[in-house]
Amino acid sequence: MFLLLPVYGAAQSPNFNRDVGALLYQKCSSCHRHGGGAPFELASYQQFAKRKQFIAEVVQRGYMPPWTADTHYRSFANQTALTDTEKQLILTWVARGAKQGRRFPAPKLPNFEAPTDLGPPDLVLQMPEPYHIPGNGRHHYIAYKIPFDLPGDAYVKAIEFVPGNKALVHHASYQLFGTGPGVNANNSPNFYVFSADSVDGIDDDRDFHIFQLYDSLGRPPFSVFHNGYLPGATIQQYPPGIGFALPRKGVLLIRSLHYSPTPLPRSDQSSLRLWLADRPVERTIEFAAFKPRIAGDTIPAGETRTYYINIKTKGDMSLLHINPHMHQLGKSFVAWALTPAGDTIPLVKIPQWDFNWQEFYRYERLLHIPSGSVIHAEAVYDNTATNLANPNQPPKPMLIETGSMDDATEMMRLVFLYVPYKAGDELIQTD
Ligand code: HEC
Repeated sequence: MFLLLPVYGAAQSPNFNRDVGALLYQKCSSCHRHGGGAPFELASYQQFAKRKQFIAEVVQRGYMPPWTADTHYRSFANQTALTDTEKQLILTWVARGAKQGRRFPAPKLPNFEAPTDLGPPDLVLQMPEPYHIPGNGRHHYIAYKIPFDLPGDAYVKAIEFVPGNKALVHHASYQLFGTGPGVNANNSPNFYVFSADSVDGIDDDRDFHIFQLYDSLGRPPFSVFHNGYLPGATIQQYPPGIGFALPRKGVLLIRSLHYSPTPLPRSDQSSLRLWLADRPVERTIEFAAFKPRIAGDTIPAGETRTYYINIKTKGDMSLLHINPHMHQLGKSFVAWALTPAGDTIPLVKIPQWDFNWQEFYRYERLLHIPSGSVIHAEAVYDNTATNLANPNQPPKPMLIETGSMDDATEMMRLVFLYVPYKAGDELIQTD
């Protein structure tokens, strides 16, 4: 959505109703509202005016809205960052007394429950009952199964993981599977708890046994889609004709659902919302995860380290989304592709990694990566005591790359959601 922003002379002051209200609602209120996950509400003129100095400060610093990717390196379709003009408008509004402009009609708060023109979801796969998170002050990890059985063929065009408890859902990795004959996914337990110090990570065979997903011929379920929720992640919508087919009978496996420590018992009832296309999708989204070739390496206590990915692609790809991933020792991340013709394609740059704000960054148009390009990524880690995000004070040696999420492990991943390239893809916009 574009807002036209006027330029102000010295005699004229911007006001909330006419000039900044709609922008602030659009950029701040989705989180700063009741149940939106932010610590206080910014959803009316009074609430913005009351915190005007604080707002000017975080806007000036670029701390809010949270958007950690460098927009000059690469801009994205789902970018929430303010443009320089928008920033200036908010700062001018505060500097000139944060007026309401009561002569003008008040802007309307957007309907955040239906954030796009998609309307309500066609299918919601929700935990059937609230999950009780123990109040023991420790990280807590579960795997959860939600079966589905559809009346007919279904093709997904947009998807959103909605944490039931935004304050405690730390991240989720989920996968949709189709199941074979003889599987009754309602017969197995809904979830199991992994031990908090588990370094096992995700294990297909374990999950398929516990959730009884092997079919009568002993075959495992087949994966149709794999994705993740991380704090800050928003709805994923695909261009027309792109998406994936849902099997009629299958399960959503939340392979790992990580809850942050809480001193008091709490509950969560997360769900996956799906919007369906009215025609079969012609192009199925694929998923690729790259990691460095140093599994098992250790970042010594008190030191910094840089790890690299250098992987040559086979086949032309059209990228839809990219997701860089590290844990709390992450400092910066940059990824680019070097084509066989010697061109550099910037992919994503996070100059100051913030574990709390990760995204599946969506390209504005499908991004063509020619076959034989080398994907390069550099991730910097800081395991010193001066890194305030370091989970260990004093620092401990950190193992990189076992894929688990505990305080003794770091991680480097670069995830692509893509479709095989077709001529003309460069022109396809993603919203
Ligand atoms: C994606 C969700 C999200 C959006 C959008 C967002 N905020 Fe926030 N905001 C948060 C969360 C969560 C916190 C508390 C954690 C933190 O400080 O990082 C926060 C904290 C703040 C704080 C307190 C910062 C501090 O240092 O304690 C201010 C002020 C603020 N937001 C203002 C804004 C304004 C103004 C906008 C829009 C221009 C905005 N926020 C947009 C989620 C959001």
